[in-house]
Amino acid sequence: MVLSVAGAATLTRHAEQWEIRATPSSTGPALPMTPSTRFSLLPFEDPMARTLVGLDIGSTGVRAAEFVPGRRRSTLRRFASVPLAPGVVRSGIVVDGEALTAALRELWATGKFGSKEVRLGIANSGVMVRQMVLDWMPPADFRQALRYQVQDALPMPVDDANLDYHLLEEAELAQENEDPRRVARILLVAAAREVVDPFVDAARHAGLRTSGVDLLPFALVRARTPNGLDPSGEAEAIVDIGADVVSVVVHAGGVPRFVRIIPGVGGDSITQAVQHGYQWSWEDAERTKVFVGLPGHATLDEFQRQTVTVRDDGLDHPAQKHVVTAATSLVAEISTTLDFYRASAAEAATADGAGQPTEVARVLLSGSGSRLGGLRELLEQRLGTRVEALDVMPFVKTTRGSHFTPDDETALAVAAGLCAGAGR
Ligand SMILES: Nc1ncnc2c1ncn2[C@@H]1O[C@H](COP(=O)(O)OP(=O)(O)OP(=O)(O)O)[C@@H](O)[C@H]1O
Ligand SMILES: [Mg+2]
Repeated sequence: MVLSVAGAATLTRHAEQWEIRATPSSTGPALPMTPSTRFSLLPFEDPMARTLVGLDIGSTGVRAAEFVPGRRRSTLRRFASVPLAPGVVRSGIVVDGEALTAALRELWATGKFGSKEVRLGIANSGVMVRQMVLDWMPPADFRQALRYQVQDALPMPVDDANLDYHLLEEAELAQENEDPRRVARILLVAAAREVVDPFVDAARHAGLRTSGVDLLPFALVRARTPNGLDPSGEAEAIVDIGADVVSVVVHAGGVPRFVRIIPGVGGDSITQAVQHGYQWSWEDAERTKVFVGLPGHATLDEFQRQTVTVRDDGLDHPAQKHVVTAATSLVAEISTTLDFYRASAAEAATADGAGQPTEVARVLLSGSGSRLGGLRELLEQRLGTRVEALDVMPFVKTTRGSHFTPDDETALAVAAGLCAGAGR
């Protein structure tokens, strides 16, 4: 039986120690006293800050957006992006910190942002997010005991992890011939320090101060629900398809229930399939992929059209054969992930009456990998669920001097989510 659904935890850094601070559900979510690095669904709140800068570091580029928080909409003051050379960031992990620092310096020189304080989003294989049911304890004791309770579930030594959790539900489980067992269902977040610190270090070397680190999937949930919880409470998936990371988050009413980060998969696996198919250069394969998309979705210009002969195999261009194969396995990966969510939500409902929806009402796409022509339709067909692009623009007011074009809309989602909700 669900007794209450509320509460939050925050992560505060004291010298080199991380401390979990839990908030009793009765008083609602609280904020850290001195936010440094945290993973939380709560907006980063700093009443003194006039503007907020969200920084999205992806493997193809770095993008930053500066916002003036507002009640209903935030105003975008500045936007800039700078491409990253291949190999600087791979699968969401910093490989070449110096090159990343150089790109961030260039980003600040280009963007002329009014602040050097940033919020970062991360998604990589060093992050683990999973639901756990633990014996209920008063929040202060729960916080103390968490490290010991979860250490066996972590893929890394507990001392090497940044830990945080969201309280999803408190419940009482009936037990035969015994008093009911009071439990807390949490979403545990553990991020290996070694995959977080290099981002913060690269930013510091570029003269930037990191005021918060958030999970990219959590930022996307906030980008979608910046003004608070969606009262309909249906489960909705947000899928970010990057170059070589896919992040899937299922949330209900703005509360994340499930996260899976799939490194090594994304738009680049489709480019790679085309490249291998023809022994082309990466640039040729990338350009061809973007223009041909999936069958029926080619967007060739007049000049390109002249080079393509009419075919009788249903393809607009022979390279679509490779695009289909790679896109189909990407879609299968996403589909398996959502199947897993449904199965585990149903299992939790049977085991302890957890009150989370098992069906995913719709899927929203972010990340430039989702721009592949026909991918949305392919996903919709395979998942049997409505699939749409995640649109953050209803919550963002653009200004003339922001250097933002409609082409940048997909690239804005993560940065917008990192700053979302602060004007509430
Ligand atoms: N118009 C387009 N059509 C198809 N694919 C595209 C298009 N534009 C970009 N892509 C693909 O999107 C991918 C990059 O997406 P995105 O910019 O979201 O990734 P990233 O944030 O840099 O990387 P990651 O999140 O994986 O670290 C690349 O694989 C690129 O080929
Ligand atoms: Mg990305």
